[in-house]
Amino acid sequence: MPRQLFVTTALPYANGNFHIGHIMEYIQADIWVRYQRMMGNVVHFVCADDAHGAPIMIAAEKVGKTPQQFVADIAAGRKPYLDGFHIGFDNWHSTDGAENHALAQAIYRDLKANGLIATRVIAQFFDTEKNMFLPDRFIKGECPKCGAKDQYGDNCEVCGAVYSPTELKNPYSALTGVTPVLRDSEHYFFKLSDPRCAAFLEKWTQGSNARGQTHLQSEVYNKIKEWLLPDENGKRDLGDWDISRDAPYFGIEIPDAPGKYFYVWLDAPIGYLASLENRFVKLAGDAETGSQAYHAFMADPATEQYHFIGKDIITFHTLFWPAMLHFSGRKTPNAVFVHGFLTVNSEKMSKSRGTGLDPLKYLSLGMNPEWLRYYIAAKLNGRNEDVEFSPEDFMARVNSDLVGKYINIASRAAGFIAKRFDGRLGEITADGSALLTLLRAQRLAIEELFEDREYAKALRETMLLADRVNEYVDANKPWELAKQAGMDARLHDVCTVCIEAFAMLTAYLKPVLPMLASQVEGFLAVAPLSFASVEQELGTGHRIGSYQHLMQRVDIKQLEALFEAPAVAEPEKLLPGGEPVAHTVGAVASSLPPEGAVLALGRPGGEAIAGPIGIEDFSKIDLRIARIVNCEPVEGSTKLLRLTLDAGEGRTRNVFSGIAGSCKPADLIGKLTVLVANLAPRKMKFGISEGMVLAASHADEIANPGIYVLEPTDGAQPGMRVH
Ligand code: MSP
Ligand code: ZN
Repeated sequence: MPRQLFVTTALPYANGNFHIGHIMEYIQADIWVRYQRMMGNVVHFVCADDAHGAPIMIAAEKVGKTPQQFVADIAAGRKPYLDGFHIGFDNWHSTDGAENHALAQAIYRDLKANGLIATRVIAQFFDTEKNMFLPDRFIKGECPKCGAKDQYGDNCEVCGAVYSPTELKNPYSALTGVTPVLRDSEHYFFKLSDPRCAAFLEKWTQGSNARGQTHLQSEVYNKIKEWLLPDENGKRDLGDWDISRDAPYFGIEIPDAPGKYFYVWLDAPIGYLASLENRFVKLAGDAETGSQAYHAFMADPATEQYHFIGKDIITFHTLFWPAMLHFSGRKTPNAVFVHGFLTVNSEKMSKSRGTGLDPLKYLSLGMNPEWLRYYIAAKLNGRNEDVEFSPEDFMARVNSDLVGKYINIASRAAGFIAKRFDGRLGEITADGSALLTLLRAQRLAIEELFEDREYAKALRETMLLADRVNEYVDANKPWELAKQAGMDARLHDVCTVCIEAFAMLTAYLKPVLPMLASQVEGFLAVAPLSFASVEQELGTGHRIGSYQHLMQRVDIKQLEALFEAPAVAEPEKLLPGGEPVAHTVGAVASSLPPEGAVLALGRPGGEAIAGPIGIEDFSKIDLRIARIVNCEPVEGSTKLLRLTLDAGEGRTRNVFSGIAGSCKPADLIGKLTVLVANLAPRKMKFGISEGMVLAASHADEIANPGIYVLEPTDGAQPGMRVH
């Protein structure tokens, strides 16, 4: 009997585009879903935009949009990311969809009928100019502990103190600047303190599903148990949960409570169900039949429900959400799978913005999305642990393992099969057969590793098998067999074994590399591969297609471009005769004339003089004489040099300049040059660059290479302005 699964990832806030952390979560879940489908199971894999809440409402207002329009615009930008990384959600919905409004209200009514909703009047800060209660994040003031100014309403970024907004000294509204007043308001609470909730959650969080798997990873349970379990005095941290917000709010109205809305975190996880229902409606073609099919699916005890989430939203998913479902008479998750955070170059990523690795830039540079899928899979296990993206490691894993070990097997054998044997596979002798048996023997182990989300181990096992195959190739040297008379049969045998082995390895890698696998299926002329297909050989006489190169290696230049800060466009216009060499390797390259272009008159230095500017434009640029007190190469970059500059300010500045190709550090140390001193500091991969030095170069850097750093005539002193 195939299993029937309902799988989700967390619903991203609809206030920004995806960052690489989101993509990592989706890749993790997508691999698991593809694995399940290869096992013959039925999966509904859904997601949605998390649309509601005060921050989105306020952000929309700032740009003059309705929250609905704002969210729709964000939603419209999702597709290139998802398609680009082959993330195959079956449905993408919004928590503002009709299904979610209905479901949230139904769940609330059920909880209320179960005696688990209470109301209480609480005092909250109110902005009298905006006429609204202020969320904690929109109240600022002085920290009650250390007195630091401009701290948020919930915690101090200077001393780390945690407090409530009413404790702030001299509070003000971050929206209007007015001093907020305390005002009473009736709030609705989910009574998590009810003994029934505590009893249920104690059991559920330690419980297991029908497959014998615990609902939570042990490290996740350990995290929440302090919250959940009573302390030595019998007191629990699990208090009632405030689930209401006052108008104006972008959210779902609470039934029979005019002017009250559900707090965004109440309706957000319900969005999982809403997106599933919406999928069934789309499949059925009409709302009523679809909705019935959804209810039947969720009522079926065989349905398994899994959520992939990050470690920052554990309490919502392991306490509030199961309790909401259970006490409203609904099915609870079969497990919640928590992953750690992705860091890039050891930098923590801000939750909303992300840093370092822009997924769309990755794609636009023509980098293969399956490199990233492979790399992320190679780093992921089933535990809640952080994952580090390191460019060097990325390149090594893709180039030496994926391409060097796996792809190579096909490229070494396929040519001979095509040229010498009319594309047909031959007979396999005993040693080859033994090798294939070895590969086949790992099938169950690899399946289990995918099931347990132990992707790193699954790939390690697969690459060990690829090692065995490469040893076989090296021992038999098909390229030599091909030159020896009378060795045709052996050559045919060896190459056939390679192709059979390649098909098996492709099956094992297919959840991670779906596009590559489908290319391989085309080239091998086989039906879609599954794990079960490793049991069967393509067979003697099977005719394969002609081999086309399946995957490139990562080029270091792509990684450099990926992490290069974006080019600054303005100075280019403002500096006739000067190219903004520093920071802008990418821009210089893209402004090259077409190859072989004849240098026409009127294009001195390879480019036309820019349009006229007034002196007031030029004087905006503060150019100063600076001494290069130190200069050194930048590890990990072939283009940049790190300059330490003294511009007479009583301190030195750190400036990165893209001149490593033409200048030796030792030649520059001690020299004077010209610094753009009022260029805003820029954060680059290697650190902060506090300005830019002027240098000359020809626009066609291939025909006329060379970058020449400007140097004043004798007598100039650090700090002098250049006019
Ligand atoms: N909207 C809520 C989730 C509601 S679920 C009913 C939210 N959104 S989010 O956009 O901030 O995060 C979405 C998911 O991305 C979360 O699972 C979060 O943990 C994950 N990640 C955010 N930054 C991440 C990394 N740097 N690395 C990996 N995942 C990260 O929270
Ligand atoms: Zn403080």
